[in-house]
Amino acid sequence: MDSDHMQEAGKLVKDLQDMRDEGHLSDALLRYAVRTIERSDDRYSWVGVYLVNDAEQELWLHNYVGEPTEHAKIPVGTGVCGRAVEQKQNLNIPDVSVEEDYLACSLDVESELVVLIRAGDEIFGQIDLDSEEKAAFKEEDEVAVQMVADKLAEQLMAERR
Ligand code: SME
Repeated sequence: MDSDHMQEAGKLVKDLQDMRDEGHLSDALLRYAVRTIERSDDRYSWVGVYLVNDAEQELWLHNYVGEPTEHAKIPVGTGVCGRAVEQKQNLNIPDVSVEEDYLACSLDVESELVVLIRAGDEIFGQIDLDSEEKAAFKEEDEVAVQMVADKLAEQLMAERR
């Protein structure tokens, strides 16, 4: 997402709400969100959603666009993705090469952004973005992706009840 970040995210949030109103469930919303975010900015080389599996205390890859990854299941607390859940916070990693405990999806990745899909303290999962540029992710990327994540959380919460 470039300078029109908020506008694009706003449109995606509206599309997702329209899908909800038509009766689509989280599976469709999660796939639509990943595809739309990935297409929105050339700097995004890999975009995916991981969902928390509470029983296993793991993140399970739900869907993605980009190179296949061997990290389909990540223990909470492991890697950038698992750490974001453990620390209950988004993580913006400008240079993955200096990260301890980084799980490489592709050797070309330079930076990573993890935005949690959450309702307060309850964490459903995350949107994970990789870039082949160093420090690709700015605050506006995070804010825009968070808007989408919040809409996805609404649906996941509704399905939990
Ligand atoms: N880099 C992540 C793993 C996810 S793959 O890159 C798709 C991590 O360190 O947790």
